[in-house]
Amino acid sequence: MGTPHNEAKKGDFAKTVLMPGDPLRSKFIAETFLTDLKLVNNVRGVQGYTGLYKGVPVSVMASGMGMPSIGIYSYELYTQYDVENIIRVGSAGALRADLELGSVVAGQGACANSAYLEQYELGGTFAPIADFDLLMAAVESAKELGVKMPVGNLYSSDTFYDAAGRNMRFQKMGVMAVEMEAAALYCNAAYTGKRALAICSISDNLVTGEELSPADRQNTFTNMMKIALEVAVK
Ligand code: ADE
Repeated sequence: MGTPHNEAKKGDFAKTVLMPGDPLRSKFIAETFLTDLKLVNNVRGVQGYTGLYKGVPVSVMASGMGMPSIGIYSYELYTQYDVENIIRVGSAGALRADLELGSVVAGQGACANSAYLEQYELGGTFAPIADFDLLMAAVESAKELGVKMPVGNLYSSDTFYDAAGRNMRFQKMGVMAVEMEAAALYCNAAYTGKRALAICSISDNLVTGEELSPADRQNTFTNMMKIALEVAVK
């Protein structure tokens, strides 16, 4: 048992998996927030852990960067490991001036410029959306924790470096923030009949030009993590 990218055994993952992009962040989340930790995957250094949060089993595993990468890991978790919920906990670049660095946003939907969606050959435009119950649970958790969390559209881009200036075209359509994974995750959830949500902390603001240092990116995601963990145990 296992996949080309995951050596965990069936049953090693909890029903809910939190997915940061960065493998080091996955280790940090597991060691900081979970107890009774077990390392269940380490293929390519993509460490997957299962532990307990408030006594409930929760897993955390990195997605890597970009839609091809999260596409692989999330598809295998949904189809090979009976995972029901994947919550992306990543970073995003704000497309609104009023979104402060370190603030948290939830992706109700995720636009994309990616060929990822073409695999379904729908002959139309699919609208990748978050699971409503997970989104509601996140909104409630944010309220309980006293954290402001705007909810709206994300833009999942295949390119971090935006040569054609597409980010700002999506901004004109009211999109809140750009990241690189949510749309593929939402598509996989739809395709497999499972549930997904992306919540992101703002690491840079493309309107004001502000950005966090790599060290600060690591440190400003506590609010996002607390919200995601509360959703995982709701
Ligand atoms: N993730 C964080 N900031 C980003 C940006 N500016 N573009 C794409 N993905 C991001």
